[in-house]
Amino acid sequence: MTDSPALSAAPSVAVIVVAAGSGSRLGHAVPKAFVPLQMRPLLERALDSIFRMREAVQIIVVAPSDRLTDARGIAAQVAARHEAPVSPNRPASGPAAPPSRTVTIVGGGRTRQDSVDRGMSALIPSIDIVLVHDAARALTPAALCDEVVAAVRSTGHGIIPGLPLVDTIKRIANSGAILGTVDRSELSAVQTPQGFPRSMLAEAHTWAAQNGRFEALTDDAALVADAGLPVSVIPGHQLAFKITTPEDLERAELILQAALGEPQPQLLPRIGTGLDVHAFAADDTTELWLAGLHWPGERGLSGHSDGDVACHAICDALLGAAGLGDIGSVFGTADPRFTGAHGETFLTETVRLVAAAGYLVGNVSVQIIGNRPKFSPRRGEAETRLAGILSAPVNIAATTTDTLGFTGRAEGVAATATALVYPAPRAGRFAGQVAAPAPLPESGQTPDLNWEA
Ligand code: CTP
Ligand code: MG
Repeated sequence: MTDSPALSAAPSVAVIVVAAGSGSRLGHAVPKAFVPLQMRPLLERALDSIFRMREAVQIIVVAPSDRLTDARGIAAQVAARHEAPVSPNRPASGPAAPPSRTVTIVGGGRTRQDSVDRGMSALIPSIDIVLVHDAARALTPAALCDEVVAAVRSTGHGIIPGLPLVDTIKRIANSGAILGTVDRSELSAVQTPQGFPRSMLAEAHTWAAQNGRFEALTDDAALVADAGLPVSVIPGHQLAFKITTPEDLERAELILQAALGEPQPQLLPRIGTGLDVHAFAADDTTELWLAGLHWPGERGLSGHSDGDVACHAICDALLGAAGLGDIGSVFGTADPRFTGAHGETFLTETVRLVAAAGYLVGNVSVQIIGNRPKFSPRRGEAETRLAGILSAPVNIAATTTDTLGFTGRAEGVAATATALVYPAPRAGRFAGQVAAPAPLPESGQTPDLNWEA
């Protein structure tokens, strides 16, 4: 699948941005490249840097096969942001047009190297230098990419950025006993983008495929070196760290807030709304389930599940508040697991997804609209039941529509819901792990300092 705007000057450099991993160690509800970092997905952040590179590049995004449309949308957004203002009257001295970008989106493979392979198959003929870059290194500065290109060009080698290790490194036994100290002057913690002459990377991938080396070698530099081809390290950058765990994501958030002055949207609560309607069932044997309760003797509501409009409206409100779509896209009416399922099933899973996205439920307010059942006698029971499932206060109001509309004609029941979610405290991450500064001495007291110590 290729989106290739017309080229003004065919680029000689390509950047393959691998973004097809699931992010199992990050443990988010969506694949890692689509996890928001200060409101923008990691992939968007990574592409933003690539778009800032000095020269024209072909950008190949390798995305999960079921997320190609999302990836295309993100790339289009970044492209739009970097587009030069187009004016037929642009003065000759005005800002230069940005270098041309060709964006190609392809589906990824099972392993990172499979994904790189698929990216390579989309290279256009004019390319002679290929950079392979992890979308997970979302804050990598564009200058590092430019430096890798320049070094590949001047040396004809594979070039990878790397940082010296600052900690003393020990070899240890399974028991934890120290076996020895490693000479860290020989070590480098390597990053991406890793750059290669195109022919060298292609040769290394062919070599690895023929010799069954893909499983053992986890980055492209290792493949190239394994094939006996030269690879050198240039200085990397602190911001090119890989976002792997929740702590890494928080580190990236802190950097954006502190160093770049970005606001802290993740500290704000978020709201969502939901609406659901079900018709009364044609037969009077269908049981009525509403607001998580069974209503004996009342005609039931028709639907794929139990037709509990209140629970469904709450799910939509919660999913909307957490930015997770809606009940149809999350649960799917075709899924047989939800045939006849009660509201509790949907609510429990929704709360789990909301928590996985980093939010807790603040409160939920529901309005049930219909002639029957008469709700007020069981309001407290329903509120307690739903609050227990959501671990948050729930208020339920009920109204009729004065005989107007489908609810007034007793053809069905509707419900609306509003939910508030708020960012979960980051227990277990950096929060609480940094010692608070010692209290200042009370005014008038002289601090006890010993400058000679
Ligand atoms: N990657 C990929 N295709 C895969 C596996 C990984 O494109 N089959 C990409 C990831 O999207 C990421 C980069 O390779 O940008 C580095 O991989 P890693 O940090 O391990 O990401 P994940 O594999 O997604 O994470 P995890 O290993 O925790 O599941
Ligand atoms: Mg991985």
